[in-house]
Amino acid sequence: MSARTIGRPRAPRPKRAPEAGPTPTPSPTASPNGRVTTARGGVLILDFGSQTTQLIARRVREFGIYSEIRPSTLTAREGRKLGPQAVIFSGSPSSAYRPDAYRVDPGWFELGVPILGICYGMQLTMRELGGTLGRAQRPEFGTVRYRIARTDALTRGLPRSFRAWMSHSDEVKSLPPGFVATGRTANCALAGARHEREPWHFIQFHPEVVHTTQGKKLLENFLFRVARLTPNWSMGDFLAREVEEIRRRVGNGRVVCGLSGGVDSSVVAALIHRAIGDRLTCVFVDHGLLRQGESDEVMHSLAGKLGVAVIRVDARQRFLSALAGVEDPERKRKIIGHEFIQVFEQAAKKIGRVDYLAQGTLYPDVIESASAGHGAKVIKTHHNVGGLPERMKLQLLEPLRQLFKDEVRALGRELGLPPMVVDRHPFPGPGLAVRILGPVNEEDLAILRHADAIFIEELRRAKRYGRVWQAFAVLLPVKTVGVKGDERSYERVVALRAVTSEDGMTADWARLPASLLTRAASRIANEVAGVNRVVYDVSTKPPATIEWE
Ligand code: XMP
Repeated sequence: MSARTIGRPRAPRPKRAPEAGPTPTPSPTASPNGRVTTARGGVLILDFGSQTTQLIARRVREFGIYSEIRPSTLTAREGRKLGPQAVIFSGSPSSAYRPDAYRVDPGWFELGVPILGICYGMQLTMRELGGTLGRAQRPEFGTVRYRIARTDALTRGLPRSFRAWMSHSDEVKSLPPGFVATGRTANCALAGARHEREPWHFIQFHPEVVHTTQGKKLLENFLFRVARLTPNWSMGDFLAREVEEIRRRVGNGRVVCGLSGGVDSSVVAALIHRAIGDRLTCVFVDHGLLRQGESDEVMHSLAGKLGVAVIRVDARQRFLSALAGVEDPERKRKIIGHEFIQVFEQAAKKIGRVDYLAQGTLYPDVIESASAGHGAKVIKTHHNVGGLPERMKLQLLEPLRQLFKDEVRALGRELGLPPMVVDRHPFPGPGLAVRILGPVNEEDLAILRHADAIFIEELRRAKRYGRVWQAFAVLLPVKTVGVKGDERSYERVVALRAVTSEDGMTADWARLPASLLTRAASRIANEVAGVNRVVYDVSTKPPATIEWE
């Protein structure tokens, strides 16, 4: 926490926000990772550690407005240099009225820009400016009905009441001077507030999540009615900025990038290739855990079509030996990660001097695999090349870190990658190893590849492939009795999984047509040797995850 954020707040200066004008003239300033960047205007999001902070940024981008996330410790003086045209305070897992709560620099209220405080961002501000907080008598988790008490620019055009997603056990008990209540729920009398004169709006619910039915409309109002911004951002701009940023960071250095066959690493490779051409070399470790035909497709689209330098290493036997007899999912993940690093390192040595390691880390990977901002819990050890940067003394280049999957796809299209690569479903780094429950061996890999290929083929034939987030087959370590011809069979079970999702962080099972499931199931049980039963997974995430391991 910055020393500046501690202490009594000053009274807000009665000054109206400026009319939204053109983006301020760029001026150099320092970003949290020490990089020099330029003022870009748009919306500055202060992150207090909520799991949904990136969703706020993504919603803002969806409206064609540039947004940037900074830690909550950023002072207003530092923030001013970024030239924000509006500021949003995110939610937080922490409690705003505990003595060690994250604070906000009162200087933000002197910048003269519109402010939106969400959940903790509301509570914090209310306390900082002289209101009071306390434990909610009835904590709210999940959707509740929010009732507008007073319509203003933020809620214009919204129904008087709508379903809103809440996640709080504290609440505002009294407002600071100069604020008025704007909305309530059955359990929370002060669920919305705004300043009488300043363009500062606060809501206890989360407008960024899909469960808040009017969330998008409310954010749209904030951007265009309250802050009066003009859309001026597109994926093309992101591409141009990133290319420039990569060139600036890498200078004359060399970059190595691991290709996995998935969308993310392909897009990273294409992006960096666009920025620095031949100074990028990709290493494609073929661990033998890919889907049918995938290995050749990777080579074809990146090395063949785009002319990216790719070293392909056939490490199939090595991975199989390391995985032999291993049952525990986390151990499998760790072994694959470890082997990958070894093979990758050996291959990379052949390139000669390298300075950077590029990775296709996306925002959902960041949030699920490590602690993002002030901290989310580890769910699964995501496969990446963690450990490598230190060993090889490489700096990390993660240009997709702020993006969600669909945004990465849009970027891939912008880069000219073929639909086959860009529209492909996400695939986990440990590959088919986490879709064969129990130990992995060559025979089971062949069974799973075949079953998976049939399911995907039927999905494409029914024009459903692009309508689901992810679809795949899982091979279970279970045998059941069946009858093939007139013979009793005792063979394995394949589970089919197809989910819809916005970002992989939550998911619902896809309501595929019965005819499609029937065809896929019948073909798998008949065509794939060793399988006599097919089941369809109807679990949601949470409480299940998308992958079975
Ligand atoms: P889960 O199973 O955690 O998966 O609900 C969420 C999304 O992440 C993918 N996934 C991975 N991606 N490395 C990756 O790059 C991994 O180790 C990994 N594990 C899961 C999964 O396919 C889904 O899209």
